[in-house]
Amino acid sequence: MQPQSNYPLRKLNTFGMDVSARYFASAGSIGEIQELLLDSRFRGLDQVILGGGSNVLLSRDINGLVLKNDIRGIFKIREDERYAWVQAGAGEPWHPFVRHTIGLGLAGLENLSLIPGNTGAAPMQNIGAYGVELKDVFEELEALDRTDGSLVRFGVRDCEFGYRDSIFKGKFRDRFIIVTVTVRLSKIPEFHIEYGAITRELEAMGVSGLTIDGISQAVMRIRSSKLPDPALIGNAGSFFKNPECPASLVEALKDQYPEMPVYPAAEGKMKMAAGWLIEKAGWKGYRKGDAGVHPLQALVLVNYGHAKGEEILELAGRIQASVEEMFKISLEREVNVY
Ligand code: EPU
Repeated sequence: MQPQSNYPLRKLNTFGMDVSARYFASAGSIGEIQELLLDSRFRGLDQVILGGGSNVLLSRDINGLVLKNDIRGIFKIREDERYAWVQAGAGEPWHPFVRHTIGLGLAGLENLSLIPGNTGAAPMQNIGAYGVELKDVFEELEALDRTDGSLVRFGVRDCEFGYRDSIFKGKFRDRFIIVTVTVRLSKIPEFHIEYGAITRELEAMGVSGLTIDGISQAVMRIRSSKLPDPALIGNAGSFFKNPECPASLVEALKDQYPEMPVYPAAEGKMKMAAGWLIEKAGWKGYRKGDAGVHPLQALVLVNYGHAKGEEILELAGRIQASVEEMFKISLEREVNVY
């Protein structure tokens, strides 16, 4: 494969960062990825794997190889009376994959409709929305080991999924390239409508009775109403994670701010809404140059045009400092920064 040199990346990351790659290649098969990994021209240089580019902030030119994982294909690989197992290539765009499974009459991914990005990135951060996480339907994935090019299978336990977390963000960071993802979907739907906005949206849509497609449509409407479309305004979704804090701290804050949203978390902890904290600290709708905080969802940092990575990072740092000062809570980045 012949990579291209000095390749512009602006269209390949949803934040719209105008940076370039010293070398760029798009790989449509496992063999092509293996070939590029073994290529001596890229030894010792940076190697960045891009999927849909929807959860990264590219803050500089990449002095090495940017490899776009473009492995495609969706296959129903197995089924029984209750379930069907569907495998997608890592390069399949996530939302069309979700809609494809809904078209097959299969339930499980409907709450995860309209999440930007490609399927291969979904297990990395255990994507989640509206009461469902990928881990709830995940069966297994195949990944290439960058150290020797071998293909390794990971079951659900191997992935060590957590809230927006997996082994691929921890111990195995930068070690594996996910090439396929298999989910176990249900022929007999179990709906997840605990997230109040879904029922409210279904009512507003005049829909009576739950269907897989109805939930997907409701989720699409909710997301479109508050999350900016990356095709129109550069962003990478939630920039920070919702922090998990000691219950004692949360209870003290609740006395001061009774309206503050909180969610149950692991033993002795509670999860807070970072968007609420950022809004309360006064940042919602803030803009300096082309870097800003979205006016409808404070958890989303946006690029109105030509913001540089360092401007977004500077804004993020100022937000972290002010939330820390006001609430004694440190916000952790959700977006991967290069
Ligand atoms: N809120 C505010 N002000 C804001 C934003 C939110 O007060 O500017 C409040 C809301 O009113 C609500 C609470 O915070 O009471 C939570 O807000 P929302 O339901 O919009 O969800 P979120 O916690 O901000 C998380 C995920 C989203 C996911 C939604 C829905 C993280 C980091 N983000 O956001 O995921 O779509 O829940 O499940 O967990 C992403 O990861 O990129 C992403 C968009």
